[in-house]
Amino acid sequence: MFITLEGPEGSGKTSQMPRLAARLEAKGFHVVQTREPGGTPIGDQIREVLFDLENTAMHPRSEILLFQASRSQLVEQVIKPALSAGHVVLCDRYADSTLAYQGYGHGVDLEQLSEIVNFATGGLKPDLTLFLDVDVRDGLDRRGSDGDWNRLDDYDVAFHQRVYKGYKKLMAAEPQRWVKVDASADPEAVAEALQAAVLERLKT
Ligand code: TYD
Repeated sequence: MFITLEGPEGSGKTSQMPRLAARLEAKGFHVVQTREPGGTPIGDQIREVLFDLENTAMHPRSEILLFQASRSQLVEQVIKPALSAGHVVLCDRYADSTLAYQGYGHGVDLEQLSEIVNFATGGLKPDLTLFLDVDVRDGLDRRGSDGDWNRLDDYDVAFHQRVYKGYKKLMAAEPQRWVKVDASADPEAVAEALQAAVLERLKT
């Protein structure tokens, strides 16, 4: 089963993913954790280019293609082999991030973007996508205060509001794939809700 985690900045995905993995492993599942951009040696190099605060000249099309280059590498090198081996794959961000950030955030044509994303993934879609829901400003405050600030966080609040609205539209378009979890709750409660959503899906 291929599970992705999505959400706005500071939604806590990155700290929740290992908790979720540990809980699933305790239930006997073999879990592979990965993240985007990155997750492979080539992808990690692309990640550095994407997040370099000095790369202010990066054109939106270049940014889109770099995300896709990292993704196609991850799909082929990590995700597909793990799924073939029968493992559960947890991925911190995936194709929906491109549609939300580059599509709804930057206003890139969604149809064109979907084709590029589809090319990068070879059509591989998540079985389940967990949305960690947090207020945009609260999330940005969390990110701003923990010192983990990157080039993409530097876009203004209006950008992040568009991203958030984009996620809502993506969820509405495919409600069966998404489960929304309140990420402003205490971390233990969030972990519990994520685990419940996944186990429910693994049963079916
Ligand atoms: P990261 O440091 O991994 O933080 P987090 O996922 O916890 O927010 O940063 C990933 C950033 O890259 C985030 O701002 C979302 C952005 N992003 C895109 O704009 N498009 C994409 O396709 C992906 C995968 C990420």
